[in-house]
Amino acid sequence: MTIAKHSRFRVLDAEPYNGEAPLSLLVEHPETPADLFYVRNHAPVPEVDPEAFRLEVDGLVRRPLSLSLAKLGREFPQAEVPATLQCAGNRRDELVRVRPVPGETPWSAGAISHGRWRGVPLAAVLAAAGVYEGAAHVAFAGLDVVEKRGESFPYGGSIPLGRARATDGSPPVLLAWELNGEPLTPAHGFPLRVVVPGYIGARSVKWLASIRVQEAPSDNYYQARAYKLFPHHVGPADADWSRGLMLGELSLTSAIGRPVDGEEVPAGATTVIGYAMAGGDRTVERVELSRDGGQSWTWCEHAPAPPGAWTLWRAEIDLEPGDHELVCRAWDSAANTQPEAVAPLWNFKGYMNNAWHRVRVRAR
Ligand code: MTE
Repeated sequence: MTIAKHSRFRVLDAEPYNGEAPLSLLVEHPETPADLFYVRNHAPVPEVDPEAFRLEVDGLVRRPLSLSLAKLGREFPQAEVPATLQCAGNRRDELVRVRPVPGETPWSAGAISHGRWRGVPLAAVLAAAGVYEGAAHVAFAGLDVVEKRGESFPYGGSIPLGRARATDGSPPVLLAWELNGEPLTPAHGFPLRVVVPGYIGARSVKWLASIRVQEAPSDNYYQARAYKLFPHHVGPADADWSRGLMLGELSLTSAIGRPVDGEEVPAGATTVIGYAMAGGDRTVERVELSRDGGQSWTWCEHAPAPPGAWTLWRAEIDLEPGDHELVCRAWDSAANTQPEAVAPLWNFKGYMNNAWHRVRVRAR
């Protein structure tokens, strides 16, 4: 299937298709246009007939459901939710420069994008199905088929029931059919996908085929093995998969989009722009910029954003002629900030790099 993207979109893998927009272009749009929205696929994009499509809801529910798109749109309340998707592998390229991360896509800082999603809150579908006591997780499976070690299986994952119902005050988890007022494109999950604001992108399952309510997290490869965080000292050979941290909520991150690393800029007044994003139900409260590698800091301006949504920030600084290391870091509503160095964050799967983001520029 041909995937239509912007001429400057960077394709990292042709099949399964993976790609991201150049960061300098990404941060120009508070709402990422579909042709710049990063794509993270673990299998070929499935072709789905929207007429024949049915979403199955089963497991620990009183009334299993089989829902057509028409029924979903007609019989359930709809909501529009601003949400940023971010891959757990965003900024892996910086980890790779510390030590190789074999077999994983070397994302730069563009595996993140923001959109306005329209669909039905998952909570409403769960309420219609009637969840039994004892249920604790909601598992999703897609229509794409992954081939791994001689096995074929659908992509899948799960989230805790409390997050699925958004009873904790987090933005609703959506079963979405629209991005920025347009139907989802095939690469982004047409005709229906999950959107879990504040969670790693992996849980926002595309081409959603089924929802199963269960006692335990999904046993799908992408929940039980991949997307687990191991300590620095553990490698693939000695990893005990049951001990990996099952990733869910995103951590706090930020990045400088402009100027770009290695750029020559005129000395004097310079505008620096970038993004910042908090995880879970937290919000970005402050973004700071340094022009001397982190010795001294100044405030950046950013628009307040709800939980689950990024904010774009800017700072006007003065650069004397010479070499400078620009650094950004954010603070969230739980007073978390980002770690200074990349090296201690290295893990063999290359996830969750949220270190201070650095860009070297020369002012002339
Ligand atoms: N859903 C299915 N069915 N198959 C996938 O490969 N990739 C996941 C998630 N949902 C994936 C999926 C991952 S790892 C991420 S980061 C997001 O989709 C990316 O969403 P996007 O491609 O729309 O940006």
